[in-house]
Amino acid sequence: MSNSRTPEILVTGGAGFIGANFVRRRLASDPGARVCVLDALTYAGNRESVADLESDGRLHFVHGDIRDGELVLGLLRERSIRTIVHFAAESHVDRSILGPDAFVDTNVVGTHELLKAARTVWLDEAPGTHRFHHVSTDEVYGSLEPDDPAFSETTPYAPNSPYAASKAASDHLVRAYQHTFGLETTTSNCSNNYGPFQFPEKLIPLVLMNMLAGKSLPIYGDGSNVRDWLFVEDHCRGIEAILERGAPGRVYNIGGLNEQRNIDLVRLLCEVVDGRLSGDAELAERFPDCPASRGDRCDSLITFVKDRPGHDRRYAIDATRIENELGFRPVETFETGLAKTVDWYLANGEWCARIADGSYREWIDRQYAERTETFPNQPKRVAR
Ligand code: NAD
Ligand code: TYD
Repeated sequence: MSNSRTPEILVTGGAGFIGANFVRRRLASDPGARVCVLDALTYAGNRESVADLESDGRLHFVHGDIRDGELVLGLLRERSIRTIVHFAAESHVDRSILGPDAFVDTNVVGTHELLKAARTVWLDEAPGTHRFHHVSTDEVYGSLEPDDPAFSETTPYAPNSPYAASKAASDHLVRAYQHTFGLETTTSNCSNNYGPFQFPEKLIPLVLMNMLAGKSLPIYGDGSNVRDWLFVEDHCRGIEAILERGAPGRVYNIGGLNEQRNIDLVRLLCEVVDGRLSGDAELAERFPDCPASRGDRCDSLITFVKDRPGHDRRYAIDATRIENELGFRPVETFETGLAKTVDWYLANGEWCARIADGSYREWIDRQYAERTETFPNQPKRVAR
């Protein structure tokens, strides 16, 4: 089914956490919208996260790799695509510490293959209106001390993890294709996201699923590291604002105005789950191993574990530009966003059960085993 009024866009990584939320929002908010998802379905990709949208023909799912330049060229040509929203990436810092190669392959080489294809089709073969939106992270700016000003778009890059370095490299390639070849690009650097469909290797879904299963809640170091948290739908709204009103060549930081210490965040999440399960016989029956089901507190599961090597101390976003230029501000507070997130995970037991299968558990167990064995000496933090 095609609709000539709304051109199809290509969303890479549309079966991942943020990509799936973006695709779902786009198709729900515009009946004429059409999306082509290109996703390699790595461990982090779940076709189930968008599968229900495929039936009416507005979502075309391609199981493929962004590093496959011929495949990307074919999609841009055959489907007349003039907008790419690029989410696909290896996205977990801990994995990048254990195995950086995949991060360079996908985040750097993969982004470059997309840029090359876009340049060929949009600048050489069929010049005209186009947009390449690159989804990036605040981690490219490095780590802040407690009193440092928040990251702005002019903060020098100082990536500390292999993940952050690979994203920084991809940001530079996007910039270079705009500057040198005139490809119309925008980039957003966003803070930590949370919400539905997030793979439970990241802090919030990991501790949420662990507390429901009565497993320990691992806090790295002393739990005083600070992150800025943004509800995923707000991130998607920010990207929509950039696609609609952002200036080509411009970079926009997106943040949640919501700095939290990890330990405070986990305690708050414990309180939300305690509140949901205590006095709800049905939930208590579904999650018998959760302390809250027997009237105990989930924070009894908190366990301090060995720190992540090179663990960035603090991230904070100065979002003045996107607010002043595009009128964007997040709508969710941390309380409303966390409540929506907890409710989604409680209501989507099947999705969680499929994700929390053997391979996920094996990874978590191996990670903690290696955490104690592989890094006997913490490297010193490099000054900015
Ligand atoms: P995710 O790990 O949940 O999903 C990544 C998706 O990309 C998966 O569906 C995976 O299958 C797909 N993918 C991986 N390699 C691929 C390849 N070679 N070809 C095609 N598809 C491939 O990631 P996420 O949390 O949704 O993050 C999406 C983007 O947003 C990433 O670029 C990330 O750097 C950025 N970002 C994430 C956060 C966050 O808090 N999660 C914050 C800021 C920016
Ligand atoms: P994470 O969700 O991995 O995102 P990022 O490293 O990209 O910020 O981690 C968020 C914070 O939580 C980070 O400071 C590391 C910490 N953390 C824990 O304390 N325990 C955990 O099990 C995980 C996954 C993260």
